[in-house]
Amino acid sequence: MNESKTNINWYPGHMAKAKRQMQDDMKIIDVVVELVDARIPASSKNPDIDSLASGKSRVILLNKADMADPDVTAMWKSEYEKKGFVVAAVDARKSNGLKIVNDCILAACKEKIERDRKRGILNRPLRAMIVGIPNVGKSTFINSFAGKAVAKTGNKPGVTKGRQWIRLNKQVELLDTPGILWPKFESREIGLRIAWIGSINDQILVTTDNAEQLLVYIANTYPGMISAYYGIEEETGDSAVPGAELLLRIANKRGCLRKGGEPDLERAANMVTDDFRSVRIGRISLERPVKE
Ligand code: G4P
Repeated sequence: MNESKTNINWYPGHMAKAKRQMQDDMKIIDVVVELVDARIPASSKNPDIDSLASGKSRVILLNKADMADPDVTAMWKSEYEKKGFVVAAVDARKSNGLKIVNDCILAACKEKIERDRKRGILNRPLRAMIVGIPNVGKSTFINSFAGKAVAKTGNKPGVTKGRQWIRLNKQVELLDTPGILWPKFESREIGLRIAWIGSINDQILVTTDNAEQLLVYIANTYPGMISAYYGIEEETGDSAVPGAELLLRIANKRGCLRKGGEPDLERAANMVTDDFRSVRIGRISLERPVKE
């Protein structure tokens, strides 16, 4: 991948506006529920959230866990728990999400609930906000809650005009608009992983080069998965073949050919990317916690 392409300055105007909005929203909430993509739990986090949400209770949801390698997701869960977050692996499209999130919010706000109780403050609902980078599943989550919620509540004194709350139960209210964070393209690897999962514009970033690197990653991390799915030879270890060769073999095997019979590598690259994103190749995690 071209280095300059990974350093995209993401819509600076939108970014600044979203950040200001989030700073405002932070004033009226108790707990931040941060959605990350379970396949890239570190690369889909924006480090700014730590300062934006300072002083707030924190929950991390490893969303799209159905697409990730369950063993690696378990490693991430304990990694973030070690850092003091309340964490759950979820699939935002599933109906059990509401209970999971509710339990996480109550666990994250345990001390606050206790403090309120001692001060005689009872029945004051906890207010939560969902945040995350684009495409991580925020709207899916909020929509499934809005469908099941006990009631929608309107504006309240001290609440930013236009803000709506979804009342999950007596204890928890959720802001119905998510906070949008932008991914940080801090390294070439982060840019590449974000491109692989497709949360940024493909016109910029789907290339044969990216698909080749994805194939190499999968071949190294999940040996045998590519050969099992595409029915091609996939040597590993010292005799591992380069990504370009893997892509070529896939193009030939799947009949991705141009008119004259030449392999059509662009078509094969799009197919591989699509197969990965649709979890047809298998449940694949793209990063693991760094061993200390
Ligand atoms: P956002 O608000 O954070 O930008 O993300 P959004 O909810 O729009 O979700 C982005 C895509 O991810 C949607 O797919 C959505 O269905 C899918 N998605 C969200 N959560 C999960 C999950 O836990 N597991 C899986 N497998 N997919 C999830 P889409 O193809 O863009 O839209 P649609 O065709 O599903 O409506």
